[in-house]
Amino acid sequence: MSALLQLEQTVRETFLPFALPSIGEEEIAEVVDTLRSGWVTTGPKVKIFENDFAAYVGAGHAIAVNSCTAALHTALAALEIGPGDEVIVPTFTFCATANVVVHLGARPVLVDVGRDSQILPHAIANAITPQTKAIMPVHYGGQACDLDSIYELAARHSLAVVEDAAHAIGSTYHGLRIGADQLSANYPGLRRVTAFSFYANKNMTTGEGGMIATADEELAKRMRVLTMHGMSKDAWKRYTSAGSWYYEVVAAGFKNNMTDIAAALGIHQLRRLDGFVAARQQIARKYDEAFAGSDLVRTPLRHADRNHVYHLYTLQLELARLAIDRAQFIEELKSRNIGSSVHFIPVHLHPFYQTQFGYQRGDLAQAEDTFDSIVSLPLYPSMSDTDVADVIEAVQQILSDNRR
Ligand SMILES: Cc1ncc(COP(=O)(O)O)c(C=O)c1O
Repeated sequence: MSALLQLEQTVRETFLPFALPSIGEEEIAEVVDTLRSGWVTTGPKVKIFENDFAAYVGAGHAIAVNSCTAALHTALAALEIGPGDEVIVPTFTFCATANVVVHLGARPVLVDVGRDSQILPHAIANAITPQTKAIMPVHYGGQACDLDSIYELAARHSLAVVEDAAHAIGSTYHGLRIGADQLSANYPGLRRVTAFSFYANKNMTTGEGGMIATADEELAKRMRVLTMHGMSKDAWKRYTSAGSWYYEVVAAGFKNNMTDIAAALGIHQLRRLDGFVAARQQIARKYDEAFAGSDLVRTPLRHADRNHVYHLYTLQLELARLAIDRAQFIEELKSRNIGSSVHFIPVHLHPFYQTQFGYQRGDLAQAEDTFDSIVSLPLYPSMSDTDVADVIEAVQQILSDNRR
């Protein structure tokens, strides 16, 4: 390629990362306060974060953990999912959603998603067997699944629902936040847990971290014990002046607790979350406006009854009209200094799931079609107007250069 051509194609001089956290001075001061306090692991800041979080989503109970993976694992363990059980999981998700089922010795039954990348209620219905114990819907990209249909199916078949809301903090369904107790108010006996992620690239972050939300008091008690080795008392209660050294192990639990250092970040990230979401939505609107008219890409599908918090902005390429494939598209973006990613490689295409459970390409067609043609564009609150314009220009340039 000539130097001149190279110059023409380079939209920007510095690399634009795919994702960046927004950490403010309040977060930094709170972490420093924690470090100076003498109490760095699970303690008073975790309590504050849990209470604030429960109030924000409208959940009776919130339990802070060290990842969303830990939240999902803890929830399934508390529901006593184990060998011989089946759990229905959308294939179009991060591997963690299915891995935790395997960790407990149960079988993940992978099902397809719709054009909106959300788990299909009729695919769930078709996958239910006498061994099915739970459904794990994933609120893909920051938009809620068809929750009413899922709760109705779960209630009818006496299944638990463990929602993977890794992308969906702040998202709403029919005006209620994901994780809210009220979401399943029409199904009083339904056992339901929602798991959130505060991983570095999420809409709010604690570096690594997660939260479990539930309305179910008994399940909440069991999950809290499971997050700390199955001990009947947590360290905070044992080591303060009010505590006692004595504890009993009532289950072979995990070490899933969140530290106060992480919670210090979370307390302030949560206060800023609505602002972060508004900024993400504004960028998504600009992408929509720029790309909606193109016959070479499809913009993310939106449901009018749900508030999309745009953890991801996933553009779908019309490959039949393009002379390049998705991998080449990503290389073209990279050559223009734009980072991007792919969410997700369907779980059933990973070697482990193929060898262990017999899945193969062709089993879940919509997820495969979507996977082959998607690219997630940079989207985070600290992107400047110029950054957003650079992404738009790069995408438009690549599309027009490669129309078939
Ligand atoms: C859909 C989904 N579920 C679960 C996880 C796991 O989250 P964590 O990294 O907090 O364990 C992720 C992480 O990206 C995810 O995207």
